Amino acid sequence: MSDGRRKILRCLSTGAPADSLADGFLRIIFFMRIDIITLFPRMFEGPLDESILKRARARGLLDVRIHNLREFGIGKHRVTDDRPFGGGPGMVMKPEPMVRCVETLRDGNARVVLLTPQGRRLEQSILQRLSREPHLILICGHYEGVDDRVRQLVVDEEISIGDYVLTNGALPAMVLVDGVARLAPGVLGHEDSAGEESFSDGLLEYPHYTRPVEFRGRKVPDILRSGNHGEIAAWRRRMSEERTREQRPDMTVKKAPPQGR
Ligand SMILES: C[S@@+](CC[C@H](N)C(=O)[O-])C[C@H]1O[C@@H](n2cnc3c(N)ncnc32)[C@H](O)[C@@H]1O
Repeated sequence: MSDGRRKILRCLSTGAPADSLADGFLRIIFFMRIDIITLFPRMFEGPLDESILKRARARGLLDVRIHNLREFGIGKHRVTDDRPFGGGPGMVMKPEPMVRCVETLRDGNARVVLLTPQGRRLEQSILQRLSREPHLILICGHYEGVDDRVRQLVVDEEISIGDYVLTNGALPAMVLVDGVARLAPGVLGHEDSAGEESFSDGLLEYPHYTRPVEFRGRKVPDILRSGNHGEIAAWRRRMSEERTREQRPDMTVKKAPPQGR
């Protein structure tokens, strides 16, 4: 088996960053497309054009396309919303424009995700799973949300970014794109590797320090400058566990092995 092939298989099986693979290879094997359906395309302009996402797009590893739902709106005024049946405040996004838009974009591989505060709460394991999808279609709601028949007819999965309500789905979609894209092989460089960070192994990450050695009377822990890699690793593990216990006791509970084994 060739080295390139072995490297690809290792990345596939471990989820490790494939930063050392040639871009051409990565594009063929890991290329990811994300379509976003929104009423506010301009909200995406800044985040997609900076830093790691900009680089991934320029390298052809990630293709993010923004679709203005208004173009699928009904009639001369391109209507996309209407009053709710049963009364009540606010407007509801009509089903026809959204379903037509999804059906135009959908191919055999696409996974359709509705951003909604009623969805499953986003966490790192969901991002990891979604980062292996070749094609995502993200539906951003607005007003009171989308007519429920959109969910019934074309949605594969509903995701919430937390137990709070935002004005529309653009920021939640952006959170998802950012979180998913940085896990896709080759997107992060070695120095930004996603391997050891918070949540990757059920713990928060250890604290980081850089120069200067002393700042406002606070010193970098000596162990980090000792050059002893074994002791550094043990210290980091201890700090990770301590931090997780203090900051996120719920994560420690989640990690406990089932009783009776
Ligand atoms: C004002 S919210 C609608 C809330 C809805 N009426 C409810 O009570 O569940 C409008 C849109 O913003 C998006 N949104 C708001 N908060 C969100 C969250 N926490 N997670 C994901 N999407 C959210 C969704 O796309 C939603 O359709």
